[in-house]
Amino acid sequence: MRKLPHGLKLGVATASYQIEGAWNAADKAPSIWDIMCHQKESRIKDGTTGDDTCKSYEFYKRDIEMLKFLGVDFYRFSISWPRLLPTGFANQISESGLEYYNNIINELLENNIEPVVTMFHWDLPQNLQDLGGWANPLISDWFGDYARVLYKLFGDRVKTWITINEPKQIGLFGYGMTRFAPQLNAHGIGEYLAAKQMVLAHARAWHIYDKEFRETQKGVCGITIATDFREGVTDSQEDVEAGMDAMDFEVGLYSHPIFTSKGGFPERTIRRIAEKSKEQGYPKSRLPEFTQEEIEYAKGTSDFYGFNHYSTKFYTRDNYKPGTHPIPSYDDDIGADFTYLDYEKGAVPHCTVIPHGIRKALKWVKDNCNDPPIMITENGSGTFGGLNDLERISYYKRYLNSVLDAIEQDHCNVITYTAWSLMDNFEWDSGLSVKFGLFEVDFDDDKRLRTARSSALWYKDIIAKRILDVDYVPKLKEITF
Ligand code: BGC
Repeated sequence: MRKLPHGLKLGVATASYQIEGAWNAADKAPSIWDIMCHQKESRIKDGTTGDDTCKSYEFYKRDIEMLKFLGVDFYRFSISWPRLLPTGFANQISESGLEYYNNIINELLENNIEPVVTMFHWDLPQNLQDLGGWANPLISDWFGDYARVLYKLFGDRVKTWITINEPKQIGLFGYGMTRFAPQLNAHGIGEYLAAKQMVLAHARAWHIYDKEFRETQKGVCGITIATDFREGVTDSQEDVEAGMDAMDFEVGLYSHPIFTSKGGFPERTIRRIAEKSKEQGYPKSRLPEFTQEEIEYAKGTSDFYGFNHYSTKFYTRDNYKPGTHPIPSYDDDIGADFTYLDYEKGAVPHCTVIPHGIRKALKWVKDNCNDPPIMITENGSGTFGGLNDLERISYYKRYLNSVLDAIEQDHCNVITYTAWSLMDNFEWDSGLSVKFGLFEVDFDDDKRLRTARSSALWYKDIIAKRILDVDYVPKLKEITF
């Protein structure tokens, strides 16, 4: 039995495209995910779309009933940019979009649940993508204007803002590959352009909050970075170096410019990408540079470190053969292979169960990012369904136990823990087939009946008692919303 530290807030998270549905309700404009999912040959594994998904646009009140049932301190959800601003720009605010988000925020507050709002969880307005999206330097203006609208409309009630969710996934999978919208496949180039513009756009949103709103609204604003851990397969110097390189590519590209005293991209990424670019005949590095002014502008622009974590990968250069990945590409720039070793697999590989990795990742953030307050904004595991999800409970228990080690033994300043996710939803390129929910959603039912899984009962218990009891397993009861 372990007591949770006093003040550690517990919550759950979702994201707009994954739960709202109503993809073309009222004046909502299409996002890049609407467009990608509607293609004939979409890359979504089960051929589903987010057109309807959990229908939370219609049924958000039931979502809030579930949050009340769990007893969470806060709810992390995201705002759909093209739902609130149908032109993508700040010239026109959708009345129905405004009403929808006002309703959610007000209903949460009436029930003593704190709203934690993500401004951007991947559903970029398609028309901004047509203009280059995160590869166009003007996106700092567009994103800044959008952020200002959000602060003005909701900042009297929303006190925690997350600018961008997981820049790596957006840039690498969407600009460098075809896994995610907008499927640019500009490998070795697009992901780095996007990385730079996302850092700067985030910084713009933070500066706007800091200068124009912080004094009156008294909230905080930060970024969420996917912080899975990377390390060497063995303790050999070579493997350790490979692990450190991978950590700087996967996390440092985004955390270094924002959280370190030096700022800019991390040395290892600058060096490796410059060397490879030269070998490949590029006149200069494929990794764009920040100007000194940009370095100063981005430094120190996050009031907390938003930390998403699912698993750990182990790297080695031992058998790495150039040509395994496209040239140029992000993976070829890292120049190493990874494995999950023999750890217990989840339904999706990125949830392979390696609980001590979350402790190491938290310690890495403490040591490499100026010991920031850390909001764990996502942690969880996917399954292929079933109400008695003992494997998910076991994942949560072991990861939370490791989080407590990080807090108690490494003195990491963890202030929130967020379970991903409240309910089953549209799991990006896996569609509706992979289930991350504490609540099961019946996607065949018009009303999208939501049923508590064992993990929901377990989470409710830990929130109420604030004690992690590794032996406790709840008895499944039928509870529906
Ligand atoms: C994303 C979520 C996603 C989750 C599980 C994170 O990368 O922020 O939107 O559903 O992982 O794969």
